[in-house]
Amino acid sequence: MNYRHAYHAGSFADVFKHAVLALLIEALKRKDTPFCAIDTHAGIGRYDLESVEASKTNEADTGIRKLTGLTLPPELAAYAGAVAALNPDPSVPRWYPGSPLIVRHLLRPQDRLLLAELHPADAAQLATEFHRDPQTLVRHMDGYVALKAFLPPAERRGVVLIDPPFEVTDEFALLQKGLTDAWRRWGNVPFDVEIGRQALLALSR
Ligand SMILES: C[S@@+](CC[C@H](N)C(=O)[O-])C[C@H]1O[C@@H](n2cnc3c(N)ncnc32)[C@H](O)[C@@H]1O
Repeated sequence: MNYRHAYHAGSFADVFKHAVLALLIEALKRKDTPFCAIDTHAGIGRYDLESVEASKTNEADTGIRKLTGLTLPPELAAYAGAVAALNPDPSVPRWYPGSPLIVRHLLRPQDRLLLAELHPADAAQLATEFHRDPQTLVRHMDGYVALKAFLPPAERRGVVLIDPPFEVTDEFALLQKGLTDAWRRWGNVPFDVEIGRQALLALSR
């Protein structure tokens, strides 16, 4: 496992992914009933954009730093609030929240967050980040195994983020199997397995 998200934190891909994730969480909050958010490839949760790793790639320059000082549309308020929560001076965002901290910032007291991360050092850091949090469970384990273990959540409502680093050559096959198994387990969500398989095949070409 060579991939470290610290090199890519706050990139344009993070901004897009996390903005969509925040919108999904906000949509789930339209009902009072609890939901469960599951993040199978969670990373470390909190990234220093001035770290040696982040400074090597400077990917935040074409990501989160581009949003600084702009008047954002209301749809981005939840995402922007999660970023601002880590930065006392939002005009110079030094800290960037990974998906676990974005979601955690937006949870209500009745909601839960389940996290899996396979890299031993990253999993340990993630566990430290959430060690006193009764709403968040951190597991050092393979994300696809976690997907099986976590589904279906007792709440029967929720969102799953599967965000692998695409380091292994069979990642699309793992994704296909993981998604198929997940939909079988979380059976109250309609899903056409064949359409999902075709979509993944198209993406992997
Ligand atoms: C793209 S990063 C995740 C970023 C995070 N979701 C975010 O948005 O802040 C992918 C993460 O998956 C971890 N990883 C790699 N293979 C894994 C596996 N089989 N199961 C769980 N985590 C894995 C890597 O260590 C890395 O932290």
